[in-house]
Amino acid sequence: MAPVDPHSYTDSTHPFTTHISLSLYLDFATSTIHGSALLSLSSPHSGPLHLDTRSLTISSVLDPTTLLPLPFSLSPTPNPILGSLLSVSLSSHSSVLILFSTSPSSSALQWLSPSQTSSLVHPFVYTQCQSIHARSIFPCHDTPAARVRFAALLNIPRALSAVMAASHVSRRDPNPGESNLSDALWCAPDRVVEQFAMEQPIPPYLFAFAVGEIGFRDLGPRTRVYAEGGKKVLDAAEREFAGVEEMVRVGERLFGPYDWERFDLLVLPPSFPYGGMENPRMVFLTPTVIKGDATGAQVVAHELAHSWTGNLITNKTNEDFWLNEGFTTYAERRIVEVVQGEERAALNMGIGWRGLNRMMERFKDNMEFTKLKPNMADVDPDDVYSEVPYEKGFQFLWRIERQIGRPAFDEFLKTYIATFKFQSIDTETFLDFLKTNLPGIENQVDLRTWVEGTGIPPDAMEPISAIYTKIRSLSLDFKLGKMPREDEVADWHGQEWELYLENLPDSVDPLQIAALDARYRLAESRDWEVKVAFLQVAVSSGCKEYFGEVERTLKQVGRMKYLRPLYTALVQGSAREEEKMLARRIFMEARDSYHPIAQGVVESILSKHS
Ligand code: BES
Ligand code: ZN
Repeated sequence: MAPVDPHSYTDSTHPFTTHISLSLYLDFATSTIHGSALLSLSSPHSGPLHLDTRSLTISSVLDPTTLLPLPFSLSPTPNPILGSLLSVSLSSHSSVLILFSTSPSSSALQWLSPSQTSSLVHPFVYTQCQSIHARSIFPCHDTPAARVRFAALLNIPRALSAVMAASHVSRRDPNPGESNLSDALWCAPDRVVEQFAMEQPIPPYLFAFAVGEIGFRDLGPRTRVYAEGGKKVLDAAEREFAGVEEMVRVGERLFGPYDWERFDLLVLPPSFPYGGMENPRMVFLTPTVIKGDATGAQVVAHELAHSWTGNLITNKTNEDFWLNEGFTTYAERRIVEVVQGEERAALNMGIGWRGLNRMMERFKDNMEFTKLKPNMADVDPDDVYSEVPYEKGFQFLWRIERQIGRPAFDEFLKTYIATFKFQSIDTETFLDFLKTNLPGIENQVDLRTWVEGTGIPPDAMEPISAIYTKIRSLSLDFKLGKMPREDEVADWHGQEWELYLENLPDSVDPLQIAALDARYRLAESRDWEVKVAFLQVAVSSGCKEYFGEVERTLKQVGRMKYLRPLYTALVQGSAREEEKMLARRIFMEARDSYHPIAQGVVESILSKHS
């Protein structure tokens, strides 16, 4: 056994999967998918082939030509991080057919009942596969080192429609015999088939679909926004994302051709656990970015940037995650600089710098996770998700840019993307490429400290700008009991408030917090970033009068960026028993409305502080 990735059972001596053909029957009544997966391998193989699964039932493994059964074994006790090893036994096979069912608790899938959707009429289901959840939908080599093409048939109730991060081939009546499932089930009159194909090879974590009552609006020649939730959501989304086509063109100017044909957006229900997910051809977004002031643009810029850094060039394992997120954070800010101006980009950098510094505190007893390339053996990526790969990665690239100058760095970036596109690479490959293309760089920038060292390197730079300095000094004034004046905050948007609040000390005088809120109504802000940043300070400072608002917030959204700080503030260090009990009760009541990944993350926060 020679692992290629600490988070996968994939064996480097076995051939990789190059194509997966899926037939999926979605049963909303039982929150289950019954499916078949035809896996094609890069070369014929004899002996065991190792695949990843999590909470899947495997009903049979077949020779695709003869449909005769092949021997297989599924490890009986799942590894809590990796899931269960599926070992199938091949003899000169270059493909294998697997029949399986998912479980209602599959970690990649959130099944929403009609009452959990905006329309209240139809159910909804969507996927979130990054980092290691694709294996809970179908058996696969679930490592970003693999690159796979897909064909998919989604058999769904006729009243619903399906979207996928792939090209749409057709919507049609089911055909008998086209799946390996029972025709009585597959061809029932109330069912329809949506057919998709992803012809570019992608890592399995980019596999994505959603099914429900989904509408759309065209935004430009290659961009469209889809959403659940009817006309109101669609109208707001259309306004918020009107500038998307321009953003794609800016991306192309900076990083080279956009290789994915379409750039569509899907706005999900409020329980979506991330701000955005860069699924190819169709980015998934939280509805919380729609605020009516075009700030959603930052998240879209980030997910768009992944079209080059992440989706074209992919981290080989999650230990190299900074290659995805650090490059993307850098690229995002370059796009923001063009479409929203230098000041906005500088503000984002400032918020990022605060975040990076906060992470040094979070990981002070576990400095491994302050490294750009941490050791992730026996570590669940969801447990250590943080701003480090984003912001330390950004700082590293910005440091190189300062060393060689922007024109040379832009040239370097374009060559890097053109060289490695459609490949999965590790940090060492990047460093070799860097040294070859920028000879002598290792004598100018301490690459080892950046990549292997803990903490923030001495040549990282606090991103000083006029607006950043002004906000910081106002935050410092607050400590001395001074409130920002109306004229000072008159043109502040959410991000200015976010930076202001994040610069306040962890715990402040509760009376002062209440006075700040009385003046600026932050706890009721329609901007979730502002509301959550405020509530976090309020809870950490022991302001009980905000517990009601905290509870409402934790029951309205499932974005982990909001759940993490609020639950943590309720249970950590100085928290009293009353607050811990509140956290446990809210979670008990809200749990079912969270995505399984978010459920796991909150559980781990609560258990760490129980
Ligand atoms: N790829 C990430 C989301 C992700 C990371 C999902 C790790 C699962 C595991 C996405 O591109 C991202 O970074 N989203 C951010 C957006 C922000 C940085 C603008 C988010 O969700 O907050
Ligand atoms: Zn990202």
